[in-house]
Amino acid sequence: MSASAQTDPAQDVGVGRVLDHVRGLDELARQPVVEFRNVTKTYNADGPNPFTAIKDVSFAVADRADHGEFVSVLGPSGCGKSTLLRLIAGLEPQHPATSGDVLVKGVPVWRPGADRGMVFQDYTSFDHRTVLDNVTFGLECAGVPRAQREEQGRSWIGRVGLDIDKDIDKYPHELSGGMRQRVAIARTLILRPSIILMDEPFGALDPNTRMNMQNLLVGLWREVEATVFFVTHSIEEAVYLGDRVYLLSRSPGTILQEIEVDPPDRPALETQREPSFQETVYYIRDRITKLEEGKG
Ligand SMILES: Nc1ncnc2c1ncn2[C@@H]1O[C@H](COP(=O)(O)OP(=O)(O)OP(=O)(O)O)[C@@H](O)[C@H]1O
Ligand SMILES: [Mg+2]
Repeated sequence: MSASAQTDPAQDVGVGRVLDHVRGLDELARQPVVEFRNVTKTYNADGPNPFTAIKDVSFAVADRADHGEFVSVLGPSGCGKSTLLRLIAGLEPQHPATSGDVLVKGVPVWRPGADRGMVFQDYTSFDHRTVLDNVTFGLECAGVPRAQREEQGRSWIGRVGLDIDKDIDKYPHELSGGMRQRVAIARTLILRPSIILMDEPFGALDPNTRMNMQNLLVGLWREVEATVFFVTHSIEEAVYLGDRVYLLSRSPGTILQEIEVDPPDRPALETQREPSFQETVYYIRDRITKLEEGKG
């Protein structure tokens, strides 16, 4: 149980169940896929302006047999969401943590690895590479022969909803924002990571495209069976996609609340119109508003 845990009793709120504490290792039936033990990150710890971004964060996400968990991460701007994600990825300067342990499958993270794939908000494709060459970039780095990687690349381009014939030879500047994020998702999933780290991947998209991408992600996630950490500012998106939502406090971030939610079983638009869905969203919105007013 985290030091930041709340003590109110657990309660059902719409499609969610607000836990009275953040689950720890001792409560999981299976080995955790990701575990934080009292993790604190202070930037410039030895410099003139040290800044603690996250403080004493503890949680454990189970490695489920049937499918990975989808963990949504919500919290006010600057509370340390990207810091948390990049610590799992093993990316500097977030990695290493100042104190505490970041474990993936029981082993301390010490550098980035192919088991963890990351999708960012910014369009991170290589401008001088075609869609196919962007999607197959990781396979190329891994030394997979051309014919084999192109076959896989074509398959993934289709699976993320791009047109195999028309889009494959386009360059990033010829694509819309939604199409570019499809490329980014394909480029990550083609490597079959067991953990997918997504930092506001749909943040720059218009609402309709965003919902289409949510529907796409639900389908792909079921197929790849990975554990997903998904940072977003959209409460609807967090509740729709997540098996659980971590709600972070203001800086220095701690996990304030863990909310279990029903998994998505229908398209985004349909689900998000329902009163029980909205009830969960309003509950979280109230919590965040209080946090931002400093009353959380
Ligand atoms: N490399 C760094 N050096 C110093 N401070 C940093 C560094 N990276 C992040 N910070 C600070 O740590 C805090 C948390 O940053 P982080 O990027 O994790 O927040 P966030 O929750 O992802 O915010 P947002 O929602 O705006 O993306 C912020 O106050 C930020 O200014
Ligand atoms: Mg961020």
